Amino acid sequence: MTEPTETAALIRARAGEEPVRLGLILGSGLGHLAQAVDGPAIPYADLPGFPRAQVSGHNPHLHVGLLEGVRVAVFGAREHYYENGNPAAMRGALETLKALGADRLILTNAAGSLRPDIPPGDLMLLSDHINYNGLNPLIGERTDARFVPMTDAHSPRLRAALRAAAAAEGIALKEGVYAWYSGPSFETPAEIRLLRTLGADAVGMSTVPEVILARFLGLEVAAVSTITNMAAGLSEERISHDHTKAMAPLGAAKLERILRRFLSAPE
Ligand code: HPA
Repeated sequence: MTEPTETAALIRARAGEEPVRLGLILGSGLGHLAQAVDGPAIPYADLPGFPRAQVSGHNPHLHVGLLEGVRVAVFGAREHYYENGNPAAMRGALETLKALGADRLILTNAAGSLRPDIPPGDLMLLSDHINYNGLNPLIGERTDARFVPMTDAHSPRLRAALRAAAAAEGIALKEGVYAWYSGPSFETPAEIRLLRTLGADAVGMSTVPEVILARFLGLEVAAVSTITNMAAGLSEERISHDHTKAMAPLGAAKLERILRRFLSAPE
Protein backbone atom coordinates (compact mmCIF):
# COMPACT_ATOMS: atom_id res chain seq x y z
CA MET A 1 0.00 0.00 0.00
CA THR A 2 1.27 3.47 -0.84
CA GLU A 3 1.81 5.74 2.13
CA PRO A 4 -0.24 8.96 2.23
CA THR A 5 3.07 10.83 2.49
CA GLU A 6 4.04 9.46 -0.95
CA THR A 7 0.72 10.50 -2.47
CA ALA A 8 1.17 13.93 -0.84
CA ALA A 9 4.62 14.17 -2.47
CA LEU A 10 3.05 13.42 -5.89
CA ILE A 11 0.51 16.21 -5.30
CA ARG A 12 3.20 18.69 -4.21
CA ALA A 13 5.20 17.92 -7.35
CA ARG A 14 2.19 19.03 -9.44
CA ALA A 15 0.61 21.72 -7.28
CA GLY A 16 3.53 23.27 -5.43
CA GLU A 17 5.17 22.82 -2.05
CA GLU A 18 3.16 25.29 -0.01
CA PRO A 19 1.13 23.51 2.69
CA VAL A 20 -2.61 23.10 2.21
CA ARG A 21 -4.68 24.77 4.96
CA LEU A 22 -8.12 23.28 4.43
CA GLY A 23 -9.88 20.43 2.62
CA LEU A 24 -13.32 20.68 1.04
CA ILE A 25 -15.32 17.67 -0.14
CA LEU A 26 -18.03 18.49 -2.67
CA GLY A 27 -21.29 16.53 -2.72
CA SER A 28 -23.68 15.66 -5.56
CA GLY A 29 -24.22 18.57 -7.93
CA LEU A 30 -21.85 20.87 -6.04
CA GLY A 31 -18.86 20.47 -8.36
CA HIS A 32 -18.89 24.04 -9.65
CA LEU A 33 -16.73 25.44 -6.86
CA ALA A 34 -13.85 23.14 -7.80
CA GLN A 35 -13.43 25.02 -11.09
CA ALA A 36 -12.79 28.23 -9.14
CA VAL A 37 -9.59 26.88 -7.53
CA ASP A 38 -6.50 28.51 -8.98
CA GLY A 39 -4.38 25.38 -9.39
CA PRO A 40 -4.18 22.00 -11.10
CA ALA A 41 -7.00 19.42 -11.19
CA ILE A 42 -5.35 16.07 -10.51
CA PRO A 43 -7.36 12.96 -11.50
CA TYR A 44 -7.99 10.59 -8.59
CA ALA A 45 -6.72 7.84 -10.92
CA ASP A 46 -3.22 9.37 -10.57
CA LEU A 47 -3.38 9.36 -6.77
CA PRO A 48 -2.70 6.10 -4.88
CA GLY A 49 -5.07 5.62 -1.96
CA PHE A 50 -7.77 7.79 -3.52
CA PRO A 51 -11.19 6.33 -4.38
CA ARG A 52 -12.21 5.36 -7.86
CA ALA A 53 -15.52 7.25 -7.56
CA GLN A 54 -18.17 6.18 -10.02
CA VAL A 55 -21.26 8.20 -9.18
CA SER A 56 -22.75 10.48 -11.84
CA GLY A 57 -22.76 14.10 -10.75
CA HIS A 58 -19.35 13.74 -9.09
CA ASN A 59 -16.03 14.89 -10.53
CA PRO A 60 -13.12 12.63 -9.47
CA HIS A 61 -10.36 15.25 -9.39
CA LEU A 62 -8.41 16.87 -6.59
CA HIS A 63 -8.09 20.62 -7.14
CA VAL A 64 -5.18 22.09 -5.19
CA GLY A 65 -4.50 25.81 -5.13
CA LEU A 66 -5.79 29.14 -3.92
CA LEU A 67 -9.45 29.90 -3.31
CA GLU A 68 -10.16 33.33 -1.81
CA GLY A 69 -6.46 33.53 -0.91
CA VAL A 70 -6.47 30.28 1.09
CA ARG A 71 -4.53 27.23 -0.04
CA VAL A 72 -7.15 24.50 -0.32
CA ALA A 73 -7.57 20.95 -1.57
CA VAL A 74 -11.01 20.53 -3.09
CA PHE A 75 -12.22 16.96 -3.54
CA GLY A 76 -14.59 16.88 -6.52
CA ALA A 77 -15.92 13.44 -5.55
CA ARG A 78 -16.14 11.04 -2.66
CA GLU A 79 -16.59 7.30 -2.50
CA HIS A 80 -19.82 6.40 -0.72
CA TYR A 81 -20.28 3.31 1.41
CA TYR A 82 -22.93 2.07 -1.04
CA GLU A 83 -20.45 1.87 -3.92
CA ASN A 84 -18.25 -0.94 -2.62
CA GLY A 85 -19.40 -1.56 0.94
CA ASN A 86 -16.33 0.12 2.40
CA PRO A 87 -17.04 2.69 5.15
CA ALA A 88 -13.31 3.59 5.19
CA ALA A 89 -13.19 4.36 1.46
CA MET A 90 -12.09 7.97 2.09
CA ARG A 91 -9.39 7.14 4.61
CA GLY A 92 -6.44 7.31 2.18
CA ALA A 93 -7.64 10.59 0.70
CA LEU A 94 -8.10 12.19 4.14
CA GLU A 95 -4.74 10.91 5.37
CA THR A 96 -3.21 12.52 2.28
CA LEU A 97 -5.01 15.79 3.08
CA LYS A 98 -3.47 15.72 6.53
CA ALA A 99 -0.03 14.92 5.08
CA LEU A 100 -0.40 18.02 2.85
CA GLY A 101 -0.64 20.11 6.03
CA ALA A 102 -4.39 20.70 6.39
CA ASP A 103 -5.97 20.88 9.81
CA ARG A 104 -9.56 21.69 8.78
CA LEU A 105 -12.12 19.91 6.63
CA ILE A 106 -15.47 21.15 5.31
CA LEU A 107 -17.86 18.51 3.98
CA THR A 108 -20.84 19.14 1.75
CA ASN A 109 -23.60 16.82 0.63
CA ALA A 110 -27.09 16.62 -0.83
CA ALA A 111 -29.73 15.46 1.62
CA GLY A 112 -33.44 14.89 2.09
CA SER A 113 -35.22 16.98 4.73
CA LEU A 114 -37.37 15.65 7.55
CA ARG A 115 -38.47 19.14 8.60
CA PRO A 116 -41.15 21.19 6.82
CA ASP A 117 -39.30 24.38 7.83
CA ILE A 118 -36.18 23.20 5.95
CA PRO A 119 -37.54 22.85 2.39
CA PRO A 120 -35.67 21.93 -0.83
CA GLY A 121 -33.20 24.66 -1.80
CA ASP A 122 -32.34 25.39 1.84
CA LEU A 123 -28.95 24.78 3.44
CA MET A 124 -28.53 22.93 6.73
CA LEU A 125 -25.39 23.15 8.84
CA LEU A 126 -24.87 19.87 10.70
CA SER A 127 -25.04 20.43 14.45
CA ASP A 128 -24.51 16.70 14.98
CA HIS A 129 -25.16 13.38 13.28
CA ILE A 130 -26.67 9.94 13.82
CA ASN A 131 -24.71 6.94 12.56
CA TYR A 132 -27.91 5.07 11.74
CA ASN A 133 -26.00 2.32 9.88
CA GLY A 134 -23.91 1.32 12.87
CA LEU A 135 -21.00 0.93 10.42
CA ASN A 136 -17.69 2.52 11.29
CA PRO A 137 -14.63 3.38 9.17
CA LEU A 138 -12.34 2.66 12.15
CA ILE A 139 -13.29 -1.00 12.54
CA GLY A 140 -10.03 -2.90 12.12
CA GLU A 141 -7.90 0.00 13.37
CA ARG A 142 -5.55 -1.52 15.96
CA THR A 143 -4.32 1.49 17.92
CA ASP A 144 -6.06 3.10 20.90
CA ALA A 145 -6.54 6.14 18.67
CA ARG A 146 -9.64 4.29 17.39
CA PHE A 147 -11.58 5.34 20.52
CA VAL A 148 -12.41 8.74 19.08
CA PRO A 149 -14.57 11.05 21.22
CA MET A 150 -17.49 12.33 19.16
CA THR A 151 -18.79 15.05 21.50
CA ASP A 152 -18.49 18.30 19.53
CA ALA A 153 -17.31 16.29 16.50
CA HIS A 154 -18.92 19.05 14.41
CA SER A 155 -16.59 21.86 15.43
CA PRO A 156 -18.35 24.64 17.37
CA ARG A 157 -15.63 27.04 16.15
CA LEU A 158 -16.04 26.20 12.45
CA ARG A 159 -19.81 26.19 12.77
CA ALA A 160 -19.75 29.67 14.29
CA ALA A 161 -17.52 30.85 11.43
CA LEU A 162 -19.89 29.33 8.82
CA ARG A 163 -22.91 30.88 10.55
CA ALA A 164 -21.18 34.26 10.54
CA ALA A 165 -20.32 33.88 6.84
CA ALA A 166 -23.94 33.01 6.01
CA ALA A 167 -25.23 36.00 8.01
CA ALA A 168 -22.77 38.31 6.25
CA GLU A 169 -24.11 37.06 2.90
CA GLY A 170 -27.72 37.41 4.06
CA ILE A 171 -28.32 33.68 3.52
CA ALA A 172 -30.43 31.59 5.89
CA LEU A 173 -28.41 28.67 7.23
CA LYS A 174 -30.56 26.26 9.19
CA GLU A 175 -28.99 23.84 11.64
CA GLY A 176 -29.85 20.25 12.44
CA VAL A 177 -28.98 16.61 12.87
CA TYR A 178 -28.03 14.49 9.83
CA ALA A 179 -28.70 10.76 9.77
CA TRP A 180 -26.49 8.55 7.62
CA TYR A 181 -28.47 5.95 5.68
CA SER A 182 -26.45 3.42 3.65
CA GLY A 183 -28.21 3.83 0.30
CA PRO A 184 -28.14 3.34 -2.60
CA SER A 185 -31.90 2.77 -2.40
CA PHE A 186 -33.69 5.69 -0.81
CA GLU A 187 -35.49 5.31 2.52
CA THR A 188 -39.05 4.08 2.97
CA PRO A 189 -41.63 6.44 4.51
CA ALA A 190 -41.63 4.21 7.62
CA GLU A 191 -37.84 4.58 7.93
CA ILE A 192 -38.19 8.33 7.66
CA ARG A 193 -40.81 8.36 10.44
CA LEU A 194 -38.39 6.26 12.52
CA LEU A 195 -35.48 8.63 11.84
CA ARG A 196 -37.65 11.61 12.78
CA THR A 197 -38.50 9.91 16.09
CA LEU A 198 -34.78 9.35 16.64
CA GLY A 199 -34.11 13.08 16.28
CA ALA A 200 -32.91 13.41 12.69
CA ASP A 201 -33.61 16.59 10.70
CA ALA A 202 -32.08 15.43 7.40
CA VAL A 203 -31.00 12.16 5.83
CA GLY A 204 -28.27 11.29 3.34
CA MET A 205 -25.84 8.64 2.15
CA SER A 206 -22.45 10.14 2.99
CA THR A 207 -20.48 12.46 5.29
CA VAL A 208 -20.71 10.59 8.61
CA PRO A 209 -17.81 8.17 7.90
CA GLU A 210 -15.72 11.16 6.77
CA VAL A 211 -16.49 13.07 10.00
CA ILE A 212 -15.35 10.04 12.01
CA LEU A 213 -12.17 9.68 9.94
CA ALA A 214 -11.45 13.40 10.18
CA ARG A 215 -11.75 13.37 13.96
CA PHE A 216 -9.55 10.25 14.10
CA LEU A 217 -6.91 12.17 12.12
CA GLY A 218 -7.24 15.26 14.35
CA LEU A 219 -8.83 17.43 11.64
CA GLU A 220 -11.36 20.04 12.72
CA VAL A 221 -14.53 19.37 10.74
CA ALA A 222 -17.88 20.89 9.81
CA ALA A 223 -20.50 19.86 7.24
CA VAL A 224 -23.31 21.53 5.30
CA SER A 225 -26.21 19.80 3.51
CA THR A 226 -28.01 21.22 0.51
CA ILE A 227 -31.57 20.03 0.83
CA THR A 228 -32.72 18.62 -2.51
CA ASN A 229 -36.05 17.06 -1.51
CA MET A 230 -38.41 16.31 1.32
CA ALA A 231 -37.61 12.80 2.59
CA ALA A 232 -39.76 9.83 1.56
CA GLY A 233 -43.44 10.16 2.46
CA LEU A 234 -43.21 13.86 3.35
CA SER A 235 -44.26 15.22 -0.05
CA GLU A 236 -45.86 14.14 -3.32
CA GLU A 237 -42.58 14.71 -5.16
CA ARG A 238 -40.85 11.64 -6.64
CA ILE A 239 -37.39 11.09 -5.13
CA SER A 240 -34.61 10.11 -7.55
CA HIS A 241 -30.90 10.68 -8.17
CA ASP A 242 -31.79 12.78 -11.25
CA HIS A 243 -33.96 14.94 -9.00
CA THR A 244 -31.07 15.28 -6.51
CA LYS A 245 -28.71 16.39 -9.30
CA ALA A 246 -31.29 18.81 -10.70
CA MET A 247 -32.05 20.38 -7.30
CA ALA A 248 -28.53 20.57 -5.83
CA PRO A 249 -27.49 23.67 -7.82
CA LEU A 250 -30.26 25.65 -6.07
CA GLY A 251 -28.47 25.35 -2.75
CA ALA A 252 -25.02 25.16 -4.34
CA ALA A 253 -25.02 28.79 -5.45
CA LYS A 254 -25.75 29.92 -1.87
CA LEU A 255 -23.25 27.46 -0.42
CA GLU A 256 -20.55 28.78 -2.73
CA ARG A 257 -21.12 32.33 -1.47
CA ILE A 258 -20.97 31.16 2.16
CA LEU A 259 -17.78 29.17 1.60
CA ARG A 260 -16.06 32.02 -0.22
CA ARG A 261 -16.98 34.42 2.59
CA PHE A 262 -15.85 31.86 5.19
CA LEU A 263 -12.47 31.47 3.44
CA SER A 264 -11.89 35.19 3.05
CA ALA A 265 -12.60 35.89 6.76
CA PRO A 266 -9.54 36.02 9.01
CA GLU A 267 -9.24 32.86 11.14
N1 HPA B 1 -32.32 10.37 1.19
C1 HPA B 1 -31.02 10.00 1.19
N2 HPA B 1 -30.09 10.66 0.52
C2 HPA B 1 -30.45 11.74 -0.17
C3 HPA B 1 -31.78 12.19 -0.22
C4 HPA B 1 -32.76 11.45 0.51
O1 HPA B 1 -33.97 11.78 0.52
N3 HPA B 1 -31.80 13.28 -1.01
C5 HPA B 1 -30.52 13.50 -1.42
N4 HPA B 1 -29.70 12.58 -0.91
